[in-house]
Amino acid sequence: MDYYKIKGGKKLRGEIKISGAKNAALPIIVASLLADGETVLKNVPDLMDIRTIIRVIEYLGAETEFDRENHILKIKVSKIKNGEMPYELVKTMRASVYVMGPLLARLGEADVSLPGGCAIGERPVDIHLAGFEAMGVRIELEHGNIKARAKKLAPANFTMRQISVGATANLMMASVLTSGKTVLENCALEPDIVDLGLFLKKMGANISGLGTERITIEGVKKLTPVTYTIMPDRIEAGTFLLAGAITKGDVTLTDCVPEHIQSLTDLLKESGYNIETGKNTVRITPGKNQKGFMIKTLPYPGFPTDLQAPVMSLASILPGISVIIETIFENRYTHVGELRRLGSDISIEGNVAIVKGGKKLMSAPIMMSDLRAGASLVIAALAAKGTTEIRRIYHSDRGYEKLTEKLSALGADIKRVKGGTF
Ligand code: EPZ
Repeated sequence: MDYYKIKGGKKLRGEIKISGAKNAALPIIVASLLADGETVLKNVPDLMDIRTIIRVIEYLGAETEFDRENHILKIKVSKIKNGEMPYELVKTMRASVYVMGPLLARLGEADVSLPGGCAIGERPVDIHLAGFEAMGVRIELEHGNIKARAKKLAPANFTMRQISVGATANLMMASVLTSGKTVLENCALEPDIVDLGLFLKKMGANISGLGTERITIEGVKKLTPVTYTIMPDRIEAGTFLLAGAITKGDVTLTDCVPEHIQSLTDLLKESGYNIETGKNTVRITPGKNQKGFMIKTLPYPGFPTDLQAPVMSLASILPGISVIIETIFENRYTHVGELRRLGSDISIEGNVAIVKGGKKLMSAPIMMSDLRAGASLVIAALAAKGTTEIRRIYHSDRGYEKLTEKLSALGADIKRVKGGTF
């Protein structure tokens, strides 16, 4: 029950190295189950969610060695087994459903707990299941578990009724060893999906159309384990840029992919910030005539829903009105009440948030409700007058590596206090 103590008002300055991407590492770690032998993954972030997915693949028979300091994860696969994964393990992380693809591809069976509700929305997995059924898998739901069986997976032409990052990843992993041509339509274009696809191709998979709406997979007989480096985390990169912006600081991100956060850097330029990009660096400094913005969250390359909460903190202090429209998840404004406690002026109408900016934020005790809501509170506290205590920081541990150390290195006055009461 650790909590953060943040004394706001410090301008952040300096360079920050971006970690490997959580949302690419999760499916790639699971995809290592598709090949016998030793896979070596580099630039793997040390996050709670990564530790959980490692326990998931160990439960299915993989042996792992995680050098957290150097971000190197070795995964040995010889015999994977389908086993009803304990609900305790699955309920902590929805991405556990990713094991269905590799288990069906290798064993023709998968028993996985149906992911329950989530703070940010209902988040069903019907598109994953419909895709598997199109590949000839029989799906039954029993006592909260998905029981999936297929004598032999069949190639399929499957169109997703809605763009889904998770379903695109799961169906790609199920198809790579399925002989014949599978065509997936209305796919996610997220860089995380492209990174997973490049990993599978390096193992010998035959995939084309990565980063486009149509992905075609020609099944191959066997995949070979490889050494692969996970791409940088674009959401972590965006979060640190916003921390630099709200404190009117001078922050340079290194080891990132500027194109992956272009929707954010475009917004920041329009809102009166200077952005300088290099091959894998982005620098932000305050410019003139800062003003509010209008943004709608969309699938990539649109503005990411995972930066909606963090950018709302910035809107709270920017002069003028900002309008934010959340189109991906139906319940992703749980941070609004906490931001109001710091003095933000936000009104919500359905999925539209109107932010009256130009506010001087003031410290207050607040708490996180999920990972990205948590990031928005940390960003706001960096600009708030006084010392803010933020509880339930286990949420941010899931997706931000060494957050205290990284922000302190930029001059933030942030402490992680051990053992709170709630
Ligand atoms: C991934 O979740 C990310 N998680 C999320 O990041 C991110 O917010 C989301 O993509 C959107 O970008 C990981 O990569 C582990 P979706 P995912 O399937 O795959 C609906 C973070 O903060 N849908 O693209 O679960 C769904 O309810 C996390 O790091 C169905 O209806 O998202 C949502 O409204 C939070 N049926 C929309 O589609 C399905 O079968 C997009 O969901 C699947 C999805």
